[in-house]
Amino acid sequence: MMLHVPDVLTPAQVAELRALIDAASWEDGNATSGPQSALAKRNRQLPEGSEAARRAGAVVREAVSGNPLFMSAALPHTVYPPLFNRYGAGDGFRAHVDNAMRFQRDQGVRIRTDLSATLFLSDPADYDGGELTVEDTFGVHEAKLPAGDLILYPASSLHRVEPVTRGERIASFFWIQSLVRDDARRALLFDMDLAIQCLARTAGQDGAEIVGLTGAYHNLLRMWAEL
Ligand code: NI
Repeated sequence: MMLHVPDVLTPAQVAELRALIDAASWEDGNATSGPQSALAKRNRQLPEGSEAARRAGAVVREAVSGNPLFMSAALPHTVYPPLFNRYGAGDGFRAHVDNAMRFQRDQGVRIRTDLSATLFLSDPADYDGGELTVEDTFGVHEAKLPAGDLILYPASSLHRVEPVTRGERIASFFWIQSLVRDDARRALLFDMDLAIQCLARTAGQDGAEIVGLTGAYHNLLRMWAEL
């Protein structure tokens, strides 16, 4: 499942984040790459663990944790500390699949990357190219979203960042280990949650049907969740 989550950050929050990260020093984006993606990738990123990345990452984590659509779709177990990258003219990232595991050095823990997220931090009018292109079983999907919007997609999918031909594309990206590792099960729970919320708005919270469906949702989550 690929999901567009709008308005994760307000325009004021985007401006605040941009001021913080634009003033920081950036390094070659291949600092976090495996050997195969190092050949495919051309961009810059904020050094992992740097003060700017930590502060900006905390803002992103807080924003996604308070976003009901993100939480319902991702069912996060662990959110990897957000990273930040920038693609200038001539930069891009050829087709690849993200590493299955990420080691979180400061915590000494490994996370399984079930989902990838990109939070756009540039106005799409400020650059040409730079679309995130994701291939799944339903075809090829392109995302180039307003600043403050996020795209969530399975980390198992083949994806790329189209070459930027003008301006600069700045984004935050991170991985999520989900409570429910299987994409189809997670998508089913998400659909069910949306339908229950819709029904609750139209039919009220306390009907026997809502209670029954909510119970079924939680019992499926209990059956499938891995802690
Ligand atoms: Ni990737």
